[in-house]
Amino acid sequence: MFTIQTLDKISAKGLELFPRDQYEIATEISNPDAIILRSTKIHDMELPPKLKAIARAGAGVNNIPIDKCTKKGIVVFNTPGANANAVKELVLAALLLASRKIHDGISWAQSLKGNGDQVPALVEKGKSQFKGPEIKGKTLGVIGLGAIGVMVANDALALGMNVIGYDPFISINSAWELSSNVAKASSLDHLLSVSDYITIHVPFNENTNGMINKNTLKIMKKGVRILNFARGGLVDNKDILEAIENGKVACYVTDFPEEELLGNERIIAIPHLGASTPESEENCALMAASQLREFLEKGNVRNS
Ligand code: MLT
Repeated sequence: MFTIQTLDKISAKGLELFPRDQYEIATEISNPDAIILRSTKIHDMELPPKLKAIARAGAGVNNIPIDKCTKKGIVVFNTPGANANAVKELVLAALLLASRKIHDGISWAQSLKGNGDQVPALVEKGKSQFKGPEIKGKTLGVIGLGAIGVMVANDALALGMNVIGYDPFISINSAWELSSNVAKASSLDHLLSVSDYITIHVPFNENTNGMINKNTLKIMKKGVRILNFARGGLVDNKDILEAIENGKVACYVTDFPEEELLGNERIIAIPHLGASTPESEENCALMAASQLREFLEKGNVRNS
């Protein structure tokens, strides 16, 4: 009998992959063979002595102490690509949000309640405050060409954008199914200097921590709009707030709200919804569970 502790709510479709006559699965297990989780941070957790594997139903693994696991021989799985479509769809929505002031316009329209049949006239009078540019013909810079970045790049072309891509870790020529219509930036600085919109899709680690900071912001065009659906720590909050204040950045959309980013009308803070669709939660759970089962039963390590 294998024992698996779930630290977060995991889609039932995934957990159904474990036959109940061979597996005990519960939120409280004293010394499990494996842990399956989504967002719970376990850096401070004492790793159970029997633990052989941790499976994350998601792409990023920065909530898991990888070095500690490696030292103890604990295998860590994640689910790259399984939530890519969900994130991509929200990024495309965010491109339009960043341009067209849709969120402010909606709040304003709601605030007109109580004005009775004057509402249509008030709408016509006040709507000009929510004017924003079209994205067609503008340049989108995609930093990071993994599963999500490639999907965003290809679909932004279909919206009429010019797209330029750069990956700090892999050669752009080996990016998976990247449209040949995506221009190749010769360097990160090149991408930053020509983009009207920049979207970040790299993992968070010691090399990418704070990669959007006062130095990289300096290279960007005035009025650039920046989207971050990867990890909050990729962007230096103090520096982006300053760049918003001095007009360099027209809008920052982040899926990782933090206190200092709230209440600024040029920052759109989304409550980490990138992967929050039933489809993506199911895909991630299925991938995490099948990797884990294969490992526990056959010792195979597969990360796809
Ligand atoms: C990811 O790393 O894939 C996302 O953060 C997933 C999530 O929202 O759990």
